[in-house]
Amino acid sequence: KIRKSVLMPMLAAASLMLSAPGAIAATFKMAIGDAAGGTQWELATSFAKSFSDKTGGKHKVDLFPNGQLGDEQDTVNNAAMGLLDFSVLAINNVTPFSPTVGVLTLPYVIQSAEDAKTLTQGAVGQELVDNTIRDAGVRIVGWAYSGFRVLTNSKRPVTTLADLKGLVIRVPKNEIMISTYQSWGINPTPMSWSETFTALQQRVVDGQDNPYITISAMKFNEVQKYITNIRYIFSLEPLIMSEQVFQAQKPDVQQAILEAGREATEHSFKYLLETEEQIRADLAAKGMEIVDPADGEKEWIEKATTAVWPKFHKSIGGKDKLDAVLKALGR
Ligand code: MLT
Repeated sequence: KIRKSVLMPMLAAASLMLSAPGAIAATFKMAIGDAAGGTQWELATSFAKSFSDKTGGKHKVDLFPNGQLGDEQDTVNNAAMGLLDFSVLAINNVTPFSPTVGVLTLPYVIQSAEDAKTLTQGAVGQELVDNTIRDAGVRIVGWAYSGFRVLTNSKRPVTTLADLKGLVIRVPKNEIMISTYQSWGINPTPMSWSETFTALQQRVVDGQDNPYITISAMKFNEVQKYITNIRYIFSLEPLIMSEQVFQAQKPDVQQAILEAGREATEHSFKYLLETEEQIRADLAAKGMEIVDPADGEKEWIEKATTAVWPKFHKSIGGKDKLDAVLKALGR
C-alpha cells in the first residue's frame, strides 16, 4: 500500500508533467474561435485527420470549438506560453501580437480569393510566418480562406455611408478595423469575438462584419436581418501552433504538422469555392436581405484607403512592405 504522503507528491509531479509548458504530448488541444461547421472547423478537422494519419495514429488532436478554450486573442497568449498547442482564429486577432500581419487586414488590399492565396502561399506569407514566430511565439501552420467580410445589421438596409451613420457596429479589437469604420464616419465598438453573438442578440450592438460562412456557422441570421456586401477585408484565418510546443516535437512529427497544415490549407481553399455561394443563398432563404453598396463601393474604398493605409505603414513594417504586397498582386 502506498502511503498518502508518498502518493500525493507523485500525483502532483505527474500532473505537472502533463501540463508542463511545451511538454511532448501525443494528444494535442486545438482551440477554435467559431462554432463547428464553418471554415475554421473545416481547416481544423482536415488538419486533425491528416496529422493523425501521417503519424500512424500515434498523435491526435482534440478540437474545442466555440471559444471553449478562451477568446481568440487569449488563445494567442496561451499558445505563446506553451499552455495551448493549437488555435484557429481570424488573422485580425493575431495582429495585436504581431503587427506586420496587419498588411492582410488593410482594407481593400486583397480583392479576390486568388489574391488571398497568392499572399499566404508565397514569399509574403513566409515572411509573415517568420515574423509571427518572432513577435508572438506562435507558428502559422495553415490557413483557412473564409471569404470577404460583409456587414450585417438588425436595423436597415445599408448601401451608403450615410445609411451607416447612427448604427452601433461591433468590430474586433483591431486598430486597423476600428480606423476603417472611423474613416466611414462612425465610431465602432471594439469587442471580443466570444461576446459578439450575445451582444447582437441583446441589441447592445446593431451589427458586425464577418464572412457569409462565419455568419451562417455562428447563426447570426437569427439575430441579424441585413447584409451589405462591403468586401473590405478578405478573412484569413490561420491555424497557429505554440512555437514552444512545436520545437519540443521530434523532426518527423514537425514534418507531419507542416505537411498536414499545407494539405488542410488546400482543402480550405476548395471548401470556400465550393460552398460560399450556397451559404449566401441559404442565408437569403432564411430571410436575410442582401444588398450591394451603392456606386460600386466607391465611397467606402476611397475613404478607407486614403485614411487607413498611411496610418498603418509603420506598424506593417513600412510603406515598402505594402508596395511589395501590391506588386505581388500585380497592382
Ligand atoms: C472576429 O470578428 O473577431 C473574427 O474575425 C471572428 C472569427 O474568428 O470568425
